[in-house]
Amino acid sequence: MKEKWWHDLIGYQIYPKSFQDTNSDGIGDIPGIMQRLDYLSDLGISMVWICPIYRSPMMDNGYDISDYTQVDPVFGTNEDLKKLIDEAKKRGITIIMDLVINHTSSEHPWFREACKDPEGEYGKYYIFRKGKDGQPPNNWRSIFGGSAWEKLAGSDYYYLHLFTVGQPDLNWENEKLREALYEMINGWLAMGIGGFRIDAIAHIKKDLSGGDLPADGVDGLCSGMEYFRNVEGIEEYLRELKTKTFEKYDCFTLAEVDDIPEERLEAYIGEDGYYSTVFDFCHCFHSRLDGDWRDRDGEMLLDVRNRVFERQRNMEGKGFFCNYLENHDMIRIPDRYLPKEDQNFYSLSMLPVLYFFLSGVPMLYQGQEIGMTGFPREKIEDYVDLATHNSYQGYLAQGMSPKQALDKINRNCRENARTPMQWNDGPNGGFSEVTPWFAVNPNYTDVNVEKAQQDSHSLLAFYRRLVALRKDCLYKKNWLYGSFTPLEEDSGQLWSFMRSKDGQELLVFANMANECAQTKGHYDGKVLLNNYGRLKQRDGQLLLQPYQAVVLERV
Ligand code: NOJ
Repeated sequence: MKEKWWHDLIGYQIYPKSFQDTNSDGIGDIPGIMQRLDYLSDLGISMVWICPIYRSPMMDNGYDISDYTQVDPVFGTNEDLKKLIDEAKKRGITIIMDLVINHTSSEHPWFREACKDPEGEYGKYYIFRKGKDGQPPNNWRSIFGGSAWEKLAGSDYYYLHLFTVGQPDLNWENEKLREALYEMINGWLAMGIGGFRIDAIAHIKKDLSGGDLPADGVDGLCSGMEYFRNVEGIEEYLRELKTKTFEKYDCFTLAEVDDIPEERLEAYIGEDGYYSTVFDFCHCFHSRLDGDWRDRDGEMLLDVRNRVFERQRNMEGKGFFCNYLENHDMIRIPDRYLPKEDQNFYSLSMLPVLYFFLSGVPMLYQGQEIGMTGFPREKIEDYVDLATHNSYQGYLAQGMSPKQALDKINRNCRENARTPMQWNDGPNGGFSEVTPWFAVNPNYTDVNVEKAQQDSHSLLAFYRRLVALRKDCLYKKNWLYGSFTPLEEDSGQLWSFMRSKDGQELLVFANMANECAQTKGHYDGKVLLNNYGRLKQRDGQLLLQPYQAVVLERV
């Protein structure tokens, strides 16, 4: 694999609304990120992805953009952003922005013009179709619930919105639209950002040739995903997008693309792929609290392991995934993978070992490094997110009682990962001097950065060691380009593998269960990382303690 400048990045995702408020409006801002750059640099972070900060009515917290060229005043100014980019650079941190080009806000001037004349110049920027007999053009369900079509008042036209009604989908078939987007993208790259995390890009091509699909829910709608995700022919757009923008700046691109078929992986993230790397979703739908995996922790983690290992094997030597466990769209990882009573230093520190030493770019989500968790709300009104409210309504429509629906929301809603960052045990966890836009988890008096910084055995300290080992020049090339060999695959509770390069063998073991595990194989080596004080061995076999994670260099 040809070496690229971005291969050794260690990423950190910031949800700006919840990171650090400096102007006392209860909402995080760019000066707040600036204030915390040293913290990120101490942690060893070299790339920061900031969720959308463009001007927006905030119907979907910034994923609904009304002006691509301006920072929303709630976060600061374009000058603040420029300053942040420069200050981050001084600390060896590259800033990447979120790029939301599947849709705009319904308040974007393009869409306002489009509504005046759906057949006119700007009408062609979006996807309008006439309804049939007073019904939407088809029965696709929006990813956030309800019909994916919204009627334009006083006309026969409907517009497509795969997400909320406030996020009309752009028409990528229109070259003029594409050129307008490229110009905007190049403008940001020229300003000095290191690249983009690319939102919902798998959806830019739609197949609208068919009619209604068989309903798959009580709402009479159908998910229709195969007609608007990774649709055949999307590659043409992706190639053009890369050539006309990213490639010119040799920037880093990290695309949100679920379910790329194995045979297409190389085209996406191989040497000459459309993107540098992608967030794969192969482990995202696993939660011990909900759905198929309810209370089947052991089997669930095993399934996650098998899927992740499979993806690693598929891409070996060809390209990089971006490896992660948390983000702003999923409940926090301790809640997802661990029983409440098992959440302690050992289990929480075992979790990042699962993915930090795989081939790829490791990514952290704000607060993961101190073990932030969600907390159940007593009423649905305590949630802000529209998608969460839509899900709640959907559960009621399925016949759940309000209590059952709220319980389900508390178990699986994405907004639980968006509580404000817990910096200290002061008012509002040090996030803001005023009541924040979304309540801080009451456990902030115990779980906070300041406390973790004072304890050399804290989770935060462990994350620092983890990052340091990833970056250690003695091992770095192996972590980046070494081969991947799964170990102990028939074990039901061990996540273990070997990375090898030029005769160096690095062994990673994580015991995913709250009981001891003995390896079948014999391993010996120098301990590079251990979340316990010691490593027990019996006749060369490792005796791993509950949730123990170790990294060894074979000697
Ligand atoms: C994916 C983003 O991560 C999510 O937060 C957003 O709501 C949708 N895309 C729509 O932009």
